Amino acid sequence: MAWTKEMPANPVVAIAGATGAVGREMLKCLEQVNFPAKEIRLLASARSAGQTVPFAGCGDLPAGELTVQEMTEESFQGVDIALFSAGAGVSKKFRQAVVDAGAVMIDNSSAFRMDKDVPLIVPEVNAEDVAWHNGVIANPNCTTIQMVVALEPLRALGHIDRIIVSSYQSASGAGAKGMAELEDQAGKVLAGEDFEPSAFAHQIAFNCIPHIDVFIDGDYLNDAPEGYTKEEWKMVVETKKIFHDDTVQVAPTCVRVPVLRCHSESINLEFDRPVSIEAVKEALANGKNVVLEDDPANNVYPMPALHAGSFDTFVGRVRRDATVADDRGVAMWVVADQLLRGAALNAVYIAQALLPQA
Ligand code: A2P
Repeated sequence: MAWTKEMPANPVVAIAGATGAVGREMLKCLEQVNFPAKEIRLLASARSAGQTVPFAGCGDLPAGELTVQEMTEESFQGVDIALFSAGAGVSKKFRQAVVDAGAVMIDNSSAFRMDKDVPLIVPEVNAEDVAWHNGVIANPNCTTIQMVVALEPLRALGHIDRIIVSSYQSASGAGAKGMAELEDQAGKVLAGEDFEPSAFAHQIAFNCIPHIDVFIDGDYLNDAPEGYTKEEWKMVVETKKIFHDDTVQVAPTCVRVPVLRCHSESINLEFDRPVSIEAVKEALANGKNVVLEDDPANNVYPMPALHAGSFDTFVGRVRRDATVADDRGVAMWVVADQLLRGAALNAVYIAQALLPQA
């Protein structure tokens, strides 16, 4: 069923999961892009109802405080856009209520990403896919988003046949509890005190864990081979869907590292034709919302400690991958604030793409 309801120029926006690591950033992103909201409704579990959150104002809405409400099926009456980041179970539970209320759900969870009737959108790459939603649009996984934003400008240079990517993912990818666990554990390890990991399978302080989300079996989406995690396979299937390209091959390894915020990625690309490193750097420098930060002689390259809080995707260490024949190989390093670029901000950019275009 095609969606026929027109989006008003000043929509009512709900944030479902407003007290979480991503939900809090969603409100800040609405403020920072000056989203023309008529009203913003903050929703969370009953535990958080009544909490107040400072609000800087946006559109015609004045600065002040917003009060968190308990999320129920009635919460979506009168809402035009519902930004969801409360986990896949909550998204599934409330999907029908959101659609019945006539709102568009922009969902940050993995619940609907690979559904055939749900567009999966990174606006710099495939904003045109907003045209065919049926009430739900999915926000991709954070590691996928920053990778495709960095690769999009390079697709004009030739077809990307193969991507080998290793991620260095921060603790905040596991939500507010992930950040708290890293901070708490770091102190305990240094003090020689005992602790029990809970947000992660192992100690995260002073460690790297090559395991994000669950290990999957072979019949998960598009026949994942044995031994991959769901986080890794999301990068494979989501990249193909966003690029509208089933032929691009993606070989990921996802690793949790003791960084509070910002994911990093080491990426090796194989093009179908020779590409010069100069052309790659020029394309990146001109890429939308991409910043080329690449001056190794002066120790300049992107790092997570530099870019927490930034909207952009930073690329450096751009160099030839000489293991690929005929000058078709390129290696690079990509850093972005995954709570913003990889989640909250991408959702808000999708919301902007839904507004009536001037
Ligand atoms: P609450 O803070 O009241 O538990 P994070 O990703 O940082 O863990 O945050 C998850 C977000 O989703 C929080 O805002 C949390 O609210 C919200 N949430 C989790 N479960 C539910 C639920 N069953 N109903 C409504 N909101 C929920």
